[in-house]
Amino acid sequence: MPRSLSAEAVSAVAGAPLAQQFHATRSLTEALVGPLSDADATIQSMEDASPAKWHLAHTTWFWETFLLREHAPGYRLHREDWPFLFNSYYEAEGARIARAARGMLSRPTLDAVLDWRAAVDEAMTPLLDDPALAGLVALGIAHEQQHIELLLTDIKHALFSNPLGPAMWDGATPAASAAAAMGWHTHPGGIALVGQDGPGFAFDNEGPRHRVLLEPFALADRLVTNGEWDEFIADGGYRQARLWLADGWAWVQGNGIAAPLYWREDGAYFTHQGWQARDPNAPVTHISYFEADAFATWAGARLPTEFEWEVISASHDPAGGNQLDGAGPVLPIGSSGMFGDCWQFTRSAYLPYPGFRVPEGAVGEYNGKFMSGQVVLRGASCATVRGHSRASYRNFFYPHQRWQFTGLRLAKDGA
Ligand code: AVJ
Ligand code: FE
Repeated sequence: MPRSLSAEAVSAVAGAPLAQQFHATRSLTEALVGPLSDADATIQSMEDASPAKWHLAHTTWFWETFLLREHAPGYRLHREDWPFLFNSYYEAEGARIARAARGMLSRPTLDAVLDWRAAVDEAMTPLLDDPALAGLVALGIAHEQQHIELLLTDIKHALFSNPLGPAMWDGATPAASAAAAMGWHTHPGGIALVGQDGPGFAFDNEGPRHRVLLEPFALADRLVTNGEWDEFIADGGYRQARLWLADGWAWVQGNGIAAPLYWREDGAYFTHQGWQARDPNAPVTHISYFEADAFATWAGARLPTEFEWEVISASHDPAGGNQLDGAGPVLPIGSSGMFGDCWQFTRSAYLPYPGFRVPEGAVGEYNGKFMSGQVVLRGASCATVRGHSRASYRNFFYPHQRWQFTGLRLAKDGA
């Protein structure tokens, strides 16, 4: 039996008091599992993806570990043996079950996890207005927002893995309006300042702010569409080695890749609303870095660097475009601006900025230790909580991964 949707979820408004953002974020996480059974929320379809129930629990573990245990006088863990289940990767927090075994947790039940959430929400209440804890609370909110997006992409993969192709939301997907001809934002090059600076929360990996040298470049004013991807396929894009990076060509051949993830040969693609007709005008999504790079080569263009993307996007509204506002369907449909629909691959390696220092303590493991072998994605997607991202935001994944809402925006040399 599906659970009934209990909470009326609203997106967290950036800039609202932290207590309000906390409750909006916590209730949105829970509203997203409203359509799911305990079984839906328990299974793990691949190692990269975690069960929805695990996301509900891990975010709660984060509050308990980094806020309540350290800063709530007399707080006792809800269950002593649960940190072993819900610690993701923090070596300083001790041993944990293997990532690939997260789908073995038939217990605790979904209801028991939701009870834990309620208890932690209540215990957190007095801490939410403490100015000394504001930084950690903001981190906890941003962390839970990241897991809202992961929950959405992970449950999509789990539902897709069921031959019945179940939908978690009913109704037909909306049609995108016809994609306009591609225009270009041009930049003359020069010394630019990038990275986070100033008020408001940012992750440690967004700073320090520093100078970079740019050559003249142009950045497309919209994302590449499904229709354009169809042309790439029809032109033999997946069969021409010369278009691909060596690692990408090995990945294509080794895995029999011939289309984005979730595409079916009959013109359908899998969505949270089940199998739907592909919209040629909507931005293409669920592509790997290798595919994005090959497409750009085929199109006579290239991927932008993360800094090119940032200097153009600094003057755009980071809360604009198609982003997550509540517990409803998510799908790229095409929007103006630099944010929304799909995370955008850059050709920048995910590396520390000059002067970057890993923060003290266990939360120092949050971002810095992953700066090896991954690529930076910029912007925000249809599954990103509106208000979560900003021009300096650095998302990161391995080049072969494509179960996130990943897309691409072309760049060219010369303004
Ligand atoms: C930034 C999305 C790559 O998935 O591990 C969640 C987000 N960090 N908990 C990830 C994250 C800690 C992170 N990504
Ligand atoms: Fe996490």
